[in-house]
Amino acid sequence: MNFLETGIEGLDQILSGGIPERSGVLVEGPPGSCKTLLGMQYIYEGIKKYNQNGLYVTFEQFPQDLYRDALNFGWDLKKLEKEGKLKIIFTSPEVFEQDIKVVGSWVEKIFFDLNVQRVVIDSVTHFQNITLGKAEKRKVIFGFCNALKRQNVTTFFIKEVEQEELPFEEYLFDAVFNLSYKEAGVTKNRYIEVKKARGCNHTLGKRIFRLTNRGINVLPDKSMSSFCPMPLAQVFSTGAPVLDEALGGGLSSGDVVLLGSDGLAGTREIVGSLISEAVGRGEGLCISPCSPYCFMDLPKVLKMYGVDMFALAKKDKLIGVDFYQRAVPEELKINVINVGQLEPTEFVKVFREINKEMVDSPFAWLVAKDVDSLILKFGEEFTKDWLAKQIALLRAHGNLVLLFCNLNSVSESMIGFLNQNASTVIESWLEDNYHQLQVTKSSCNKTSNPLILKNIGEKPFFSLE
Ligand SMILES: Nc1ncnc2c1ncn2[C@@H]1O[C@H](COP(=O)(O)OP(=O)(O)OP(=O)(O)O)[C@@H](O)[C@H]1O
Ligand SMILES: [Mg+2]
Repeated sequence: MNFLETGIEGLDQILSGGIPERSGVLVEGPPGSCKTLLGMQYIYEGIKKYNQNGLYVTFEQFPQDLYRDALNFGWDLKKLEKEGKLKIIFTSPEVFEQDIKVVGSWVEKIFFDLNVQRVVIDSVTHFQNITLGKAEKRKVIFGFCNALKRQNVTTFFIKEVEQEELPFEEYLFDAVFNLSYKEAGVTKNRYIEVKKARGCNHTLGKRIFRLTNRGINVLPDKSMSSFCPMPLAQVFSTGAPVLDEALGGGLSSGDVVLLGSDGLAGTREIVGSLISEAVGRGEGLCISPCSPYCFMDLPKVLKMYGVDMFALAKKDKLIGVDFYQRAVPEELKINVINVGQLEPTEFVKVFREINKEMVDSPFAWLVAKDVDSLILKFGEEFTKDWLAKQIALLRAHGNLVLLFCNLNSVSESMIGFLNQNASTVIESWLEDNYHQLQVTKSSCNKTSNPLILKNIGEKPFFSLE
């Protein structure tokens, strides 16, 4: 299949290259949403960038108005007409609809004489006026699309819709672009969304576009950004290449990673992978496991990832902190501190010692903290205050901090605090029986679309799609 680039800045990026040749694209939007402008730009760029001649059929505006509006963007349509690269026809839908079907008609002559490859019909809204029933309208539009396909052209069919209107016969078209706008303060944000594009791996979601002096410019959102500012520290892998990619390269020392879940989707796979990578790099592990895990089963879980917790403990590279009165294996007894019964002041003191050990240590640490247990024990205010200091200290010494939190069990203000203090946020939730995961913040300034987490039989025991 051959693809045709629209030539509109940013739009081809969403379409992963362009639209299939000979397709019919529905461009829908409310009045003033730049449908005509998009149509004119499609035709203009076709001629200028790709040497593809165009036909603009308007049932609405006099050609003089189009010439004038286009000149605002530096597009001299009149000149292109003189050069035989463009034809603007002002006609009625009745006439055009009849004539395009007639072999050897004036319309066919234009297609032939100009070797037309791009067409805009502005707008098919008017077809509603010449047809009666719904079924008949569908038939007319379908016949019209096919007549244009037979001419081997790629057509933009413009259609006016009210913001709340039900979709037009979208299934009749190969692609649908939806234009809209929203007031944002004093300015109006304009949006384009590729709702469908047969044969194209297009990205979903609304994208903002701007009107520049060269026309429409569709701005990529964060998930599409490929630029990654140079990180200050060395970047290392999470153990899962897809997650690295979603993070814009991986993680780096000094990162504070919030692993937020909905309380249903676990984060075990990611935690396991991050720990095994860190241990592989020679880092120490300071961990306070969340309530479903304890020091009796943690060594088994980590063993799957190739991490020998007992060996780590022997080398003094393990500090365990337990908030609950739970059993601890013999091999870990001297490494695990129980803080379950401590008063806040004692707790702070204990951690002062732990921090000292980590800060003075010749290697970096992966510090994994369960925020839920902290809140449960000491409340949100203490947690915020203490955590902020902890994070500042640990990251200043180049340690990697992991915070686990069930975002459904904490207040909005706590979520705000965590999002603000984390340099990377990975959210994980269960929806429609799929385990989904999304990078919503990263030190690289990149975010991802929601990804589906699938369990697999080998390390890192998950894949993301
Ligand atoms: N030169 C320009 N500079 C800034 N904004 C412009 C310029 N030309 C057009 N616009 C904006 O574009 C909007 C109209 O664009 P356009 O005519 O393409 O809309 P449309 O969706 O075709 O509307 P309709 O449904 O009424 O035909 C205007 O309302 C105006 O806000
Ligand atoms: Mg218009």
